[in-house]
Amino acid sequence: MSIINKIKDYHINHKDKILFTTPSHSLGEFLIPQLKEMLGEKYFKCDFSEIEGFDNLRAPTGILKELQNNISNIYKTKQSFILTNGSSSGIVALMLSVLRPGDKVLIARNSHVSVYNGLVLSGAVPIWFMPEYDKKWSIFSSINPKNVEEIIKSERSIKALIMTSPTYEGVFSDIKAISDICQKHNIVLIVDEAHGALLNFGGFQTKPAVLSGADASVQSLHKTAGAPNPCALLHIAKDTKIDISKVQESLNIISTTSPSYPLMLAVEATVKFLASSAGAKKVQELLEAVKRFKETLNPNISVYTGYNDPTKLLIKIKGYSGIEACEILNNKYLIEEEFSNSSAMLFLTGIGTENSKLDTLKNALNSFKTNNIKIKINDFKYKLPKQMYTPREAYFKNSSEIESEKSDSAVSQISAEVISAYPPGIPIVLPGEVLTKDIVEYSSNTLNHNSFKIIPE
Ligand SMILES: Cc1ncc(COP(=O)(O)O)c(C=O)c1O
Repeated sequence: MSIINKIKDYHINHKDKILFTTPSHSLGEFLIPQLKEMLGEKYFKCDFSEIEGFDNLRAPTGILKELQNNISNIYKTKQSFILTNGSSSGIVALMLSVLRPGDKVLIARNSHVSVYNGLVLSGAVPIWFMPEYDKKWSIFSSINPKNVEEIIKSERSIKALIMTSPTYEGVFSDIKAISDICQKHNIVLIVDEAHGALLNFGGFQTKPAVLSGADASVQSLHKTAGAPNPCALLHIAKDTKIDISKVQESLNIISTTSPSYPLMLAVEATVKFLASSAGAKKVQELLEAVKRFKETLNPNISVYTGYNDPTKLLIKIKGYSGIEACEILNNKYLIEEEFSNSSAMLFLTGIGTENSKLDTLKNALNSFKTNNIKIKINDFKYKLPKQMYTPREAYFKNSSEIESEKSDSAVSQISAEVISAYPPGIPIVLPGEVLTKDIVEYSSNTLNHNSFKIIPE
């Protein structure tokens, strides 16, 4: 039985039950007034715990097992897991289930911060590599499979590769080619597909990672697929040696023992919708709407057209930095972007982004006249800093602070903190890495990060 039907059934057939269990609101018997005002009674009527007839996400045997099996069938995986704490939790759990302390793991530097957290917890040793950088758009572009193979050959005994595709900005990498290399070298391929939750549906030309050779992936249903924050899925591919029971064990280590039924219900409803003909139609409509949108932009506007997810609109206007253009869009047109950088701006679309909304954006963009960039913003020139401690070693070291007046003396010290250039939130230095002059200057001058946490030698 589905979660939704189970809940409906409970309220019809078991409504006289008296609950002395958590949560103490007992399906909304008592509601804190502001919660009632903001969330409504219905939310609390769905907020079950593991009472009789309901299931336990940590060791599912009933309705949650059935739901996870249904999701696995839809996504054609060996096993899919519901995540009620975002792709972040799935990434950490996958790392814990695959990596042991001291294992080498190859990681693209444009990874999400959860990968760093997974390193602290697992004790694995990162071998970082830089994807290619697209200066024109100030973003990381695809990962070159040849580079990956070269590093694998030179480093030897790498246990896993972690990479993002599509990236935050929508750039895909060739998962098939990379997974072929990984298989040849017996390396587990984990793909952060947080931004690719629609790939399984409608007419996307790029297949999802676990159907292209990756061993595992995560997808955030809340980012583009219409689910509330932070609903997500973890997928384990059919042909993989990842131990499913270890993944469950790892998820149990990092997850609450009280997963939210309203969120699990949301995962169920979202996946059911996406897999229905109405869902496929909606995804198709989105693809057509963004195509039409791109065709009707003025010639002074360019849209990123690399190997990317077409629903992520990375846009430049001639004569404006992304940041400058977005300031105007925000102030004059009340349009808020996902992010902007020195070159471009990103507008995220997702299921339900209608033509009318895109028309508003198009009209605003088309109103820009060619201009001369007024504010020149320098991008950080990413370079891998020297690593003195692994993230786990660094995490457990004592740290001290260099005050802003003495920030110059931070050069050559070992960082005890993550410093990210935001957007796009990619670390320019991680704990355990050496602060170079470039990093200190960029942090102070551009990021207003003036005091530095360091690990004293
Ligand atoms: C590339 C990437 N991976 C993973 C995540 C984490 O996803 P979630 O918010 O579902 O935990 C994000 C979130 O912004 C992201 O951009």
